Amino acid sequence: MDEAYVLPRPASIEDPLRIAVLISGGGSGLAALLQYQESEARAHQTVLVLADSQDAGGLEHGRSREIETHGISLPQVEDKVQRRQSHEELVHDALVKADVELVVLSGYMRILTPSFVRRWKGRLVNIHPSLLPKYPGAHAHRDALADGATVSGCTVHLVDEGVDSGMILAQSEVPILADDTESDLQERIKKVEHVLYPEVLDRLAVGEYSA
Ligand code: GAR
Repeated sequence: MDEAYVLPRPASIEDPLRIAVLISGGGSGLAALLQYQESEARAHQTVLVLADSQDAGGLEHGRSREIETHGISLPQVEDKVQRRQSHEELVHDALVKADVELVVLSGYMRILTPSFVRRWKGRLVNIHPSLLPKYPGAHAHRDALADGATVSGCTVHLVDEGVDSGMILAQSEVPILADDTESDLQERIKKVEHVLYPEVLDRLAVGEYSA
């Protein structure tokens, strides 16, 4: 049976929630969140940035602000299952060591195992570039265009043991235009993500959600 969500403690500006942001690529969502946190006092602060490779471009957003930042590559282990588990152990250890209270997936392109999810369930949040449950998985924009959809968007959700299937916290719609390419749609959706995700984190941090 799936475990229940255990949400983060209600935090405040005086005692902000300690967030880790996990990325895989350029980290425009991370950059937007860091700017949001810098622009005024918030009930959450980014204390750790992790990527699943040492050359993810977005690591620079953490490093340039002197936030603890690591690229954790997959270890050189032959067996695939073992490699994935060992990698997640390294990630989990880094989160625990930094006293992280909420894990924010922001363009993190690895599917986490149920055993990792269970340890963070309710304190593990993701943004996905579609209006879930439509177009889960790694090719949301391609799938939306192939479907002839006229609207897509983004979804912030708690992560559960499935793929993009956890409890939805908020969604924003984005129109699909007639001659959109995948990258046009991706960029238009990212702009909306950069507004929605920080706002949802505000609400989650101060205890406005129940699960
Ligand atoms: C974002 O659009 C995010 O929703 C998506 O990756 C992009 C990351 O961009 N995430 C997924 O597709 C997760 N399945 P960024 O690296 O520029 O923040």
